[in-house]
Amino acid sequence: MSVADLPKIELHLHHEGAAPPDLIRQLAHEKRVDLSRVFDQGGGYAFKDFAHFLQVYEAATSVLQTPEDYARLTRALLEQSAANGVVYCESFLSPDFCGGGDVAAWKEYLAAIREAAERAEADLGIILRGIVTPVRHFGPDRAKRSALCAAETAGDWIVGLGMGGDETMGRQGDFAYAFDMAREAGLRRTTHAGEFAGPASVRAAIRDLGVERIGHGVRAIEDPDLVRELADRRITLEVCPGSNLALGLYPEMARHPIARLRDAGVPVTVSTDDPPFFHTTMRREYDMLAETFGWQVADFRALNQTAIDAAFCCAETRARVLKKLEMS
Ligand code: ADE
Ligand code: ZN
Repeated sequence: MSVADLPKIELHLHHEGAAPPDLIRQLAHEKRVDLSRVFDQGGGYAFKDFAHFLQVYEAATSVLQTPEDYARLTRALLEQSAANGVVYCESFLSPDFCGGGDVAAWKEYLAAIREAAERAEADLGIILRGIVTPVRHFGPDRAKRSALCAAETAGDWIVGLGMGGDETMGRQGDFAYAFDMAREAGLRRTTHAGEFAGPASVRAAIRDLGVERIGHGVRAIEDPDLVRELADRRITLEVCPGSNLALGLYPEMARHPIARLRDAGVPVTVSTDDPPFFHTTMRREYDMLAETFGWQVADFRALNQTAIDAAFCCAETRARVLKKLEMS
């Protein structure tokens, strides 16, 4: 069996970041929004660095204006993921984009997303769960509003809080209130760290936010003591190799630290982050890792076991996902 054919678990996927360019173009047309600067000549998303990526991401997201738009997006991204062999996925959903941080509006968006996800589970077999996502560069006050939305909808579908956005803005600890709210609501926690800031950001995420997983975390490799701590405490990294290459963290896959982190005992998983932005898919990530590091079927099975162990879903869902993994 080719490694790319294996069933896969994806823990780090931004809902809007997974939007096919054709869907965003279609919505822009329907709503008469000019998005010409978002796309390159080939029709893909165009950006030149991380700051510009975030701007283009938000411009594309501006055409997602209703619960129905998010239902269409959810269907499209789950079709894409299922076609890539993903059987369980956790996606980042932001109340800032879904209703502007208002709890009642957020609930309407969430209902539409869940309905689309339930239909996709019935037709395609893929299971989705949501992680509420404060956007770091929108600041701590808006993060609190997102955390309130998360707390109000915490349960078997909204399973976590996970901050994204510009890691170079502010400190992890500025968002402690939002993460405390999430913990009190029974939510699991993750945050982007060690992507565009170094090991100190990963340490701060663990110390000040009490996260159980780290989004990216790859720059922990620059601090051997931190690598040991991640391994000892079984803090799982949501590694997105193709994203890291596309945003210029590493010049080529051979220089990416995922294999060194794994070999040092750090629990690592593989995700796509924002697949159409980075011209990647889960199949492509698996193929690149196999080609670069010689990973084989057993390595990817172990990776998926790590992922299901670190998934934020309940035990019943975990058992169903494990069956899907074992069936292959
Ligand atoms: N939002 C979407 N993709 C992101 C990334 N790679 N880092 C931080 N925030 C993001
Ligand atoms: Zn991300």
